[in-house]
Amino acid sequence: MQEIKIGIIGYGTVGTGVAKILSRKSSLLSEKLKTRLILKTICDLDVRRKRNFMPKGVLFTRNVDKVLDDEQIQIVVELIGGINPAKEYIIRALKNKKFVVTANKALLAEAGPELMRLARKCGVDIYFEASVGAAIPVIKAIRDGLISNNVENIFGIINGTSNYILSEMTQNRCDFKSALRQARIHGFAERNFKLDTSGIDSAHKLVILSRLCFGQGIKLSDVYVEGINEIKLHDIQYADEFGYCIKLLAIAKIAGKDLQIRVHPTLLPKKHLLSNVNGVFNAIFITADLAGEMILYGQGAGQMPAASAVVSDLADISKRLAKIEWVSSQTFAPSQNRYRRISPIHKIKSRYYIRFMAIDKPGALSLISKILGKSNISICSVLQKGRHQGQAVPIIMMTHEAREKELRQALMRIDKLPIIRKKTVALRVESV
Ligand code: HSE
Repeated sequence: MQEIKIGIIGYGTVGTGVAKILSRKSSLLSEKLKTRLILKTICDLDVRRKRNFMPKGVLFTRNVDKVLDDEQIQIVVELIGGINPAKEYIIRALKNKKFVVTANKALLAEAGPELMRLARKCGVDIYFEASVGAAIPVIKAIRDGLISNNVENIFGIINGTSNYILSEMTQNRCDFKSALRQARIHGFAERNFKLDTSGIDSAHKLVILSRLCFGQGIKLSDVYVEGINEIKLHDIQYADEFGYCIKLLAIAKIAGKDLQIRVHPTLLPKKHLLSNVNGVFNAIFITADLAGEMILYGQGAGQMPAASAVVSDLADISKRLAKIEWVSSQTFAPSQNRYRRISPIHKIKSRYYIRFMAIDKPGALSLISKILGKSNISICSVLQKGRHQGQAVPIIMMTHEAREKELRQALMRIDKLPIIRKKTVALRVESV
């Protein structure tokens, strides 16, 4: 039976998961692939730390050359994350004509097209199923399953940590900090957890998905990003009273001639499918011209879900090397150039949930609504919580559809009123 030798760079949570699968599912994989996937070398800076799994007969080294320069190794799995030295290692692997599998969303978002071009030049390829949605085969679904479709929009919950935090706050009335602490203990969060809560991790993943659907020219700086740091327990409770839940959504959608790409906390009707995606689960809701609407749902973070996706890439490459039919991951984008303008956030129209912290006194509401009215913002409903004459109380408003630009201008004026005691929070509402 044909053998394919593999080297892993980075033996952390996901790397260990991959080694476990290659060892424990070896016969199943050989049977299905008619090829033996052999883990030859593991490289990690820390070779001293005791691991809960060390495969037998595998070289364990600090020396990355033992992977990158080993002529027998045909596939390099990069699992160290971050930009450098991951980028440098991938470039060396490609130049040495090795296929690369990576889960590195930050690097792909920053340098994906450049690395893809190099891979093509070198006659190899880069696979990245684990970079978005971990266990969910969303890359394959878009690249292969939707090959004849034009994707019209993507709405994704693609950061497990933020979704875990928001779910804990919603379901258990947990506060932000303790929910984050739990997510870190479970190992969902990035080493720098601010990437999760600031929305950047979702933005990295959205760039990868958007390139697959809308073209290679999309950059990280095209994404408008807001994280979940400002969401308070009472926002979740007020949204609930209006029939909504709050999710960190990654949105890429065609709007006329433009493409909107944005990540921000969003109110979704409670009955919507995405509203019921909780904990570390991710879901990607896609609308395509032929397939219509679909939702892909699964575990978006964690050792085995991510490792399962890495191994599916190893299997795809092995089929390709064995000349079994394959579809190149480089044929995914409709064109090398993006064909739509990126819509700046101030151009979007949305409905909004707004929380003012205003002094409770006669006339306060009319001062606020006068400014909103002048900016063409029509109020749909209002809720005032508590009654504390002379003190700041939350006033919650839901608006009809309004322009982001006009809303921001109005809020700037409102926040200067003496009755306003805290920066106003405004969240967009999507009906999807
Ligand atoms: N920190 C990421 C998340 C891990 O929470 O989704 C998976 O990419």
